[in-house]
Amino acid sequence: MNVLLVGSGGREHALAWKLSQSKKLKKLYIAPGNPGTAQYGENVDISGTDIESLVKFAKGANVSFVVIGPEDPLVAGAVDAFEAAGIKAFGPSTKAAQLEGDKAFAKQIMRANSIPTAESRTFTSFVDAKSYIASRDEAVVVKAAGLAKGKGVFVCDEPSDGILAAEQIMVNNIFGDAGDIVIVEDKLLGQEASILAFVDGRSIYVMERSQDHKPIGEGDTGPNTGGMGAYSPAPVVTDALMEQIIKEILVPTVDGMNRNDSPYRGILYAGVMITQGGPRVLEFNVRFGDPETQPILMRMKSDLLEVMLAVTEGRLDSVSLEWDPRPAVCVVISSGGYPGSYEKGKVIGGLEEAGKLKDVVVFQAGTAKQDGKIVTSGGRVLGVTALGETIAEAKMRAYEAVDMISFDGAYCRRDIADKALK
Ligand code: AMP
Ligand code: GLY
Repeated sequence: MNVLLVGSGGREHALAWKLSQSKKLKKLYIAPGNPGTAQYGENVDISGTDIESLVKFAKGANVSFVVIGPEDPLVAGAVDAFEAAGIKAFGPSTKAAQLEGDKAFAKQIMRANSIPTAESRTFTSFVDAKSYIASRDEAVVVKAAGLAKGKGVFVCDEPSDGILAAEQIMVNNIFGDAGDIVIVEDKLLGQEASILAFVDGRSIYVMERSQDHKPIGEGDTGPNTGGMGAYSPAPVVTDALMEQIIKEILVPTVDGMNRNDSPYRGILYAGVMITQGGPRVLEFNVRFGDPETQPILMRMKSDLLEVMLAVTEGRLDSVSLEWDPRPAVCVVISSGGYPGSYEKGKVIGGLEEAGKLKDVVVFQAGTAKQDGKIVTSGGRVLGVTALGETIAEAKMRAYEAVDMISFDGAYCRRDIADKALK
């Protein structure tokens, strides 16, 4: 079958790499894609949020299945639009995608279904948010309810910083409409884990556990980014903990979404804090994580396209998945200055050589092709991913590949996966 993959990041390079290995695939189109995805199909110059043009293209190119990578098109109703045009699409409906698109909705679902999460209050007025935060003398987390490209969360150790954050979001409108509603919640302590599951409305299949590294600096210091590296498996999530997460978080969420008349289909990604009191939901995402997808898919042995079709057709219980027991580590190389401002157009050297190492894949994210050369075009540029017999070996091999790659201003954290080695 012809498949259209929507998106252009490192996650989409990993999805294209994996989908291209499917027996069922005839031709892969990627909109808009990047030079990495172009190795496995044809990039189509349509933005991921131009849903009307995407549907028109899919019809013309005889596409019978669409995979949507990022959250924006899902929240904007891409799956509904493809389905209305008679084309199957992988992911939640616009109503179900509110689980990520509206954090106030996510909190309601969690509250109504007794799903463990941080205590929170929702505000539509800055004056009210301010007096609430001022009345507390602990750390607070202030979140814009809408989509803010992963930048809408402020973890504030001082209430005064929390008030400033609420003012930025609600008065200065730094995220536009996405900040009309603000959630103020308690700060949770612990280690984070990313739990990704396939869900077909009824059945849940949990993928191998992984852990992201959000802050830009080593030792988890500095501002949050989209994610500077990830590894899988994540030993912090023991089997007992996983069972608890399934029972207390995933099952009630899927049930709650059914009761809410918004059955959930696609990837359900729970960002979880492992606190002393047990796992608590930090956020839900309605799509694959970036960069968690890179190490997870390196370890998936099964045919991803078949699994995605089973999810979309409501027969997830008819497929079984196989995993490579070897761990995988992904190290993100970013542009100097990211997550603040950075320069683009730097020529990247060493890509081919690094990609030739055994069990290493260099996934491209913020890259572009210029005069036949691959240059930087975004904050997170590459996700260098390696398998190894142990996490330590996967880490060593990933950095061996990282050290073969160079561009002006290139930056990476050197401590990816160290938490798993302690
Ligand atoms: P979110 O987009 O809601 O996952 O938030 C982004 C990041 O902010 C998370 O990955 C955590 O590192 C942090 N965070 C969010 N909520 C909390 C919380 N209640 N307590 C501590 N950290 C949080
Ligand atoms: N890596 C975090 C995310 O995809 O939201």
